[in-house]
Amino acid sequence: MWLLAASVLLGALRAGSAQLTLVGISLIERNDCNASVVLPCYVTNLALNDEKVMFVTWKKQGNIIFSYRGENKKSNPVPAFSSARLLSQVDLVKGVASLVISSQQATVGNYSCEVTESNREGEVKMELRNSSGSWFLVVERAVMISLVCSVVILCAVQLTVIVLKYEIESQRKVSAIVALVIVAVVVGVGAALFIQDGYTVQNRAGLGLMVVPTVILIPLQYVMFGIVFDCLLQATLALIGLKLLGFIIAVVGFALCVQTCPPLHGSVLIAGLAIMAIASLISLGYVNGLRIMESLLTVYVN
Ligand SMILES: *[C@@H]1O[C@H](CO)[C@@H](O)[C@H](O)[C@H]1NC(C)=O
Ligand SMILES: *[C@@H]1O[C@H](CO)[C@@H](O)[C@H](O)[C@H]1NC(C)=O
Ligand SMILES: *[C@@H]1O[C@H](CO)[C@@H](O)[C@H](O)[C@H]1NC(C)=O
Repeated sequence: MWLLAASVLLGALRAGSAQLTLVGISLIERNDCNASVVLPCYVTNLALNDEKVMFVTWKKQGNIIFSYRGENKKSNPVPAFSSARLLSQVDLVKGVASLVISSQQATVGNYSCEVTESNREGEVKMELRNSSGSWFLVVERAVMISLVCSVVILCAVQLTVIVLKYEIESQRKVSAIVALVIVAVVVGVGAALFIQDGYTVQNRAGLGLMVVPTVILIPLQYVMFGIVFDCLLQATLALIGLKLLGFIIAVVGFALCVQTCPPLHGSVLIAGLAIMAIASLISLGYVNGLRIMESLLTVYVN
């Protein structure tokens, strides 16, 4: 009898200081295309709607990763989750306690959201999992980087052959070498940024740095042919045209890819780069072929 009365009393007390009801999504999926991840958390029964008495805590695997104190409007993420912030600070009084974390920092695991309003509190748990989906596959990235590197290297070999073989005024020589070195450095930086997983600003900028500066190699090719041949033959103009065509296709491919994740037109970009690489290879063969023919001719004449 006493027990029953006590439990009724306890129940009444509990109802009086009713707990906060939090809702979220128990399973959240992320992939490399998410630049950031939103962990949803909503309070449905706030009574005071006063930020000053609210306190939000986010945990991962039981460890606090972020807290927000409404009293002084202060967000407090731990270093490993430095990007964490409330989805909307102004909507906290309406019960929105969702957290935004950059995709890189939002590692998979179990997260929980705890909200306190004065002396009432509530919690909701959720699991963040990986799902498939990435910007480019590892193979695609490897192919693109190899193609761009081949274009630069073939150009460098061509320039080396020409510099060693032909008398060139030093100013022209130096500008050609400087142009090539600049392209190589920028492409290298781009590749280093692009090679990493993800669809971040860095990845996208990296791809841009890899593709766009190769435009410099087109006038450079023109200059190199100009040194080797007294007048530019149709074949050399065609090779320059082919390189330009490859570049245009690559840039169009890049523009299409940079906006979508997963990319739908990776093949356009790869095709453009492949055309540039082929044009560079034929150009090298052409310059060298002429050199070999010349030496044969010299031997023959002598
Ligand atoms: C990731 O992006 C997809 C598609 O844009 C979206 O539906 C999903 O909610 C995002 N995932 C997270 C955890 O934010
Ligand atoms: C998260 O919790 C679920 C269910 O409690 C469990 O099956 C899963 O292994 C946990 N994940 C991690 C990464 O601890
Ligand atoms: C989830 O995906 C991220 C980014 O691709 C990766 O770094 C991480 O290792 C993956 N985690 C698991 C458990 O597969």
